[in-house]
Amino acid sequence: MKYFLQVFGCQMNISDSERVQSVLNSLGYLKTLDESKADLIVVIACAVRQSAVDRVSGRAGYWLKRSKNKHLITLLTGCVLEYDKKRLAKYFDYIFPIKDLKRLPELLKRKPVQPIIKTPAPLDEYFDIKPKYNSTFQALVPISTGCNKVCSYCAVPFTRGREISRDPDIIVREVKDLVRRGYREITLLGQNVNSYGWDFKGVAVNLPQGKVYIQQLNNQGQLKIKKRQVKNPMDFSLLLKTIASLPGNFWIRFITSHPYDLSDKLIETIAKYPKLTPYLHLPVQSGSDKILKAMNRQYTSEKYQKLIDKIRHKIPGATISTDIIVGFCGETKADFQKTCALVKNIKFDMAYIAKYSSRPGTAAANRPDDVPKIVKARREKYLNDLLKKAALSNNQKLVGKNLEVLFEKYKKGFAYGKTSGFKNIRVPSAKDFTGKFKIVKVTKATPWHLSGELVTKKL
Ligand code: 5AD
Ligand code: SF4
Repeated sequence: MKYFLQVFGCQMNISDSERVQSVLNSLGYLKTLDESKADLIVVIACAVRQSAVDRVSGRAGYWLKRSKNKHLITLLTGCVLEYDKKRLAKYFDYIFPIKDLKRLPELLKRKPVQPIIKTPAPLDEYFDIKPKYNSTFQALVPISTGCNKVCSYCAVPFTRGREISRDPDIIVREVKDLVRRGYREITLLGQNVNSYGWDFKGVAVNLPQGKVYIQQLNNQGQLKIKKRQVKNPMDFSLLLKTIASLPGNFWIRFITSHPYDLSDKLIETIAKYPKLTPYLHLPVQSGSDKILKAMNRQYTSEKYQKLIDKIRHKIPGATISTDIIVGFCGETKADFQKTCALVKNIKFDMAYIAKYSSRPGTAAANRPDDVPKIVKARREKYLNDLLKKAALSNNQKLVGKNLEVLFEKYKKGFAYGKTSGFKNIRVPSAKDFTGKFKIVKVTKATPWHLSGELVTKKL
């Protein structure tokens, strides 16, 4: 029996796919890269933009046409909005929540495939599954799932639900095990890693205002916050400290950080521990306060810029990337110009720019999607050009510097890797250093790539 796996979307979905692979392998399925030979097709979907949903239906329609297998089973999981479920149902035998993954073997036994379990699976059940990592030296480790923010454009709170943090002891054990097995880069994943641990029942939390509270659920399941001073509350900063104090030669990365929840304590932690790489992905989304308010982002453009100043002061040379949405409901030329001004001022190293796409069920879906497509495309291009200039000038400052690099692949006389600051770099080399750390002297810079030469082995 062969399975074909198609993953759309973010690192969280890739991480999900590693657990899906492990379950299918345990059932004796073998992976195939040829969908026409598959007995089972599993799609991990992304709901963030309409284009991602359209790609799911487009690909699924194509597979169904191509497949000669009368018994082909097609499953859909990942991030799927209720609205899209209805549209996609005709392509799939079954759409299951990723949390139910442990129940997949039971599900596949039933012909036709159909749901058996009425009660939702507890999240621990899902995280218990040992992933089949795609790499032997880079691992994705989810630390939470879901999101408690309600950005007005975003589908995630609807597809992934409220934020639930994983038990810190289990996360630390998982990381220890990965380090023991020689993993060199651990990426901690969460929709908003900065609020890690705030949902723990009865556990102290450190809110961004710098005060420590105890957070508890009352009998009605409502969150009650009691003010009380507690030493060492479990939060993202403490989790990072614990992991960064583990012995071994490895890097820790983490995505994504919501700017509102990025505390001073966290910045200081990143600055202090060498294993924590100096790279922050901090989605800004817009430079206009009017639009930020309409997006429900909880910060102003000025606050965001002050935060970046603070980071650059405490972590000199930190790489900063962002996400920006162009053409959100009501975005005027003046609003867009404010985004451009912010981008020029901050000089991001990288940015993912998206044209706003209305998602059914979100707050913004009730507002007119009033920026014409052609204007969105023009704004996207304009911003990309601005970003390219800043990225080039940032990279040029690295020329002549010695940087630590983790190599990721080898092809035709070049070894490719990333610096601790998440910059792509390649060196001419007769040897393959995949999975190894080396020091590289930067010799040339382009906006998205560096070139260099090997200096010495890491001690
Ligand atoms: N339209 C366009 N981009 C979106 N994103 C999230 N929702 C939407 C949407 N409805 C972008 C945001 C977010 C990234 C993961 O995807 O920039 O940070
Ligand atoms: Fe979506 Fe906002 Fe949560 Fe990010 S922080 S996942 S944009 S709701």
